[in-house]
Amino acid sequence: MRKIEFMLIENDFIYKGNSGKIEKLSFQWSSPSNIALVKYWGKKENQLPANPSISFTLNNCKTITKMDIERRFDGNFTFELLFEGKPKPEFNHKINQFFLRIEKYCLYINDFHFVIDTQNTFPHSSGIASSASGMAAMAMNIMSLEKALHPEMTDDYFYQKASFLARLGSGSACRSIKGSVVVWGKHSEIMGSSDLFGVEFSSKIHDNFKNYQDTILLVDKGEKQVSSTVGHDLMHNHPFAEKRFEQAQHNLSSIKKVLENGDLETFINIVESEALTLHAMMMTSMPYFILMKPNTLEIINKIWKFRKEKNIPICFTLDAGANVHVLYPENVRGEVLQFIQQELVGYCQNGNYICDEIGTGSIQML
Ligand code: DP6
Repeated sequence: MRKIEFMLIENDFIYKGNSGKIEKLSFQWSSPSNIALVKYWGKKENQLPANPSISFTLNNCKTITKMDIERRFDGNFTFELLFEGKPKPEFNHKINQFFLRIEKYCLYINDFHFVIDTQNTFPHSSGIASSASGMAAMAMNIMSLEKALHPEMTDDYFYQKASFLARLGSGSACRSIKGSVVVWGKHSEIMGSSDLFGVEFSSKIHDNFKNYQDTILLVDKGEKQVSSTVGHDLMHNHPFAEKRFEQAQHNLSSIKKVLENGDLETFINIVESEALTLHAMMMTSMPYFILMKPNTLEIINKIWKFRKEKNIPICFTLDAGANVHVLYPENVRGEVLQFIQQELVGYCQNGNYICDEIGTGSIQML
């Protein structure tokens, strides 16, 4: 059978050349965060998802990472990590783990020293997960290096391998590479979908979702008590895991139709149910935990009341934290922002919130 290009398998991502003659190079990429509509929660070995997920790519919440790459002959990759221009030893473990996980696929990294200077456009400690945008930006820079070693590489391969590498850093990061709506995980109705990397949602998206808005209400900026990685792990032997994974498959089929036909009522039902199911999984793990705060629930109730009274199609979703993402079409932006300012800002820590909207993916800056 003829191999179709988008059906890449894991071994196709192993770089087979050597590290060439490159002495010194610099790249810089900006990668966005993303917000899942159908959630990834639970994984198999090697950062493979237990169920498919789909997300909107964001536009304003980004990580910008510059990489200065210089040849060294240590036989092992070495790196220095700067956050906003200053050393940040707390991040070293994550970066080292990323390099170790990608090493098999990018052996050339062992011939280089990397100076990584990274910053976020959103406030540090806003409680917004920076692992998706951060790991996506790391992967883009590495792929720029690989492209320099192998200039004949196709664009398709460049982005697919970038997503593959980002996934090894953090699962949701593979959805922050390219495209406004991205699916990660095998699903029978999504052509080319794979557990290995994210793919752009290829159907035509209904105008209702053009420039869709996401206002992120910062309810709690503190450090999470339970990391996502630990949370995913608790899906092993979880009493409801299998049903949950089936439900995600089903919800992905439904939301695919909704994104095509613009049915906002069904969109709201799926997205809010997914958010609450995610948190229900946390509350029913062993050990169990709660990441929502009282103000998270206050906001949800206010959103439900406003939607009913005003008949405006606004809904919420949640990440693995207490912050609330308020999702709504662009044509109701004025009314919704007024509602947020008048009724919801009081539930945010120091009144902080971030206005974002659908974006298109990572952008090369250097
Ligand atoms: C709740 O991608 O942060 O945001 O793969 O362990 O790095 P790791 O987990 P991570 O999990 C995010 C889960 C989520 C839902 C989602 O984005 O799909």
